[in-house]
Amino acid sequence: MAYVNTNFTKVSESYLFVEVARRIRSYQEQHPDAKIIKMGIGDVTRPIVPAVIDALHKAVDEMATAEGFHGYGPEQGYAFLRDTISNFDFKSRGLDIEPDEIFVSDGAKSDCGNIGDILGVQNVIAVTDPVYPVYVDTNVMGGRAGEWDGVRFNRICYMPCTMENGFVPSLPTEHVDVIYLCFPNNPTGTTLTKNQLKVWVEYALKEKAIILFDAAYEAFITEDDVPHSIFEIEGARQCAIEFRSFSKTAGFTGLRCGYTVVPKDLVAYTEDGKAVALNKLWNRRQSTKFNGTPYIVQRAAEAVYSPEGRAQIMENIAYYRENAKLMKETFESIGIPAFGGVNSPYVWIKTPLDSWTFFDRLLDECRVVGTPGVGFGPSGQNYFRLTAFATHEATKEAMDRIKNWKL
Ligand code: MLT
Repeated sequence: MAYVNTNFTKVSESYLFVEVARRIRSYQEQHPDAKIIKMGIGDVTRPIVPAVIDALHKAVDEMATAEGFHGYGPEQGYAFLRDTISNFDFKSRGLDIEPDEIFVSDGAKSDCGNIGDILGVQNVIAVTDPVYPVYVDTNVMGGRAGEWDGVRFNRICYMPCTMENGFVPSLPTEHVDVIYLCFPNNPTGTTLTKNQLKVWVEYALKEKAIILFDAAYEAFITEDDVPHSIFEIEGARQCAIEFRSFSKTAGFTGLRCGYTVVPKDLVAYTEDGKAVALNKLWNRRQSTKFNGTPYIVQRAAEAVYSPEGRAQIMENIAYYRENAKLMKETFESIGIPAFGGVNSPYVWIKTPLDSWTFFDRLLDECRVVGTPGVGFGPSGQNYFRLTAFATHEATKEAMDRIKNWKL
């Protein structure tokens, strides 16, 4: 008899965005002529920029030659990309992150989930609430979440982030071992200042806890006081892992590339108190379970850092920022509080209805899709997320429909 991993039976039947997609499909079947505008899942719409496409073509052509062919590459990523990342994303900001602390992957979502492989099952996990569902679901799968009590998992520490606390989580009142922080935040689109993040680094150092810092949206930061990397905070090398993604930065949601920084100073402990370096463990995990991101994709990612690549991706980001601005202004003009959108592609609104009722009515009456806040956690109830990743035309059309909506 084969036994199932019963942890998997504890996660909700479908992943949030799969459920949203299911509801859209069902609505579209019943209303085949409805022109639905999708602002739900954070998937980009701008094509990949020319500098990256050129690099991709060049790499594809190389693969057709005996000299340029690449088979298995280094599991951690090619040196050309790790060096480039180290220089541009860290050293240029005065941050000491070496290439061998950078692990290139097929995206931040995979890494955020896979990192649990090297963390003990006994760790108490803390998440902000609302939260990117991957952090919770992968800990349920990994056996760290406890039981579902109808609202929450009873071994996870949920840290509410609402209008009332300005979307800034308070430190847990009981000890936790692993803390997921995503800033700029998905789903709320809000941020922490350097001083606010410093509080978390100090907490983690004191508690010997680890912060899993998801910086997938750092390219959208506009304000000076918002850190682009947790390693801007003193002491973070001893307590943090950082996840980065090319998905939203450079339109790689379909191409797939991201990376994870595991500093060599970072340790976690055995039950008898022996410190184990996580950089080595992650390296071991990746070289066993992962065969590397495709060469052509890594060449494409490298081109993101070229002068042309950088200028071109910043144009796309500015395009999405304009959408976010329009969305925020629209909701504010009809008296619906709207947050985020300034350092982030997400706008988070406070709804006068519960999240799923708002979803259904927005879909039925405006033919606009967003993501119900409660799908991100109990504190997301009565909130709703919209992404700025649609085209200008679709965003404007959606906002016009919403302005005329009798809610
Ligand atoms: C989201 O909509 O929250 C993101 O696109 C999901 C992801 O990045 O996996």
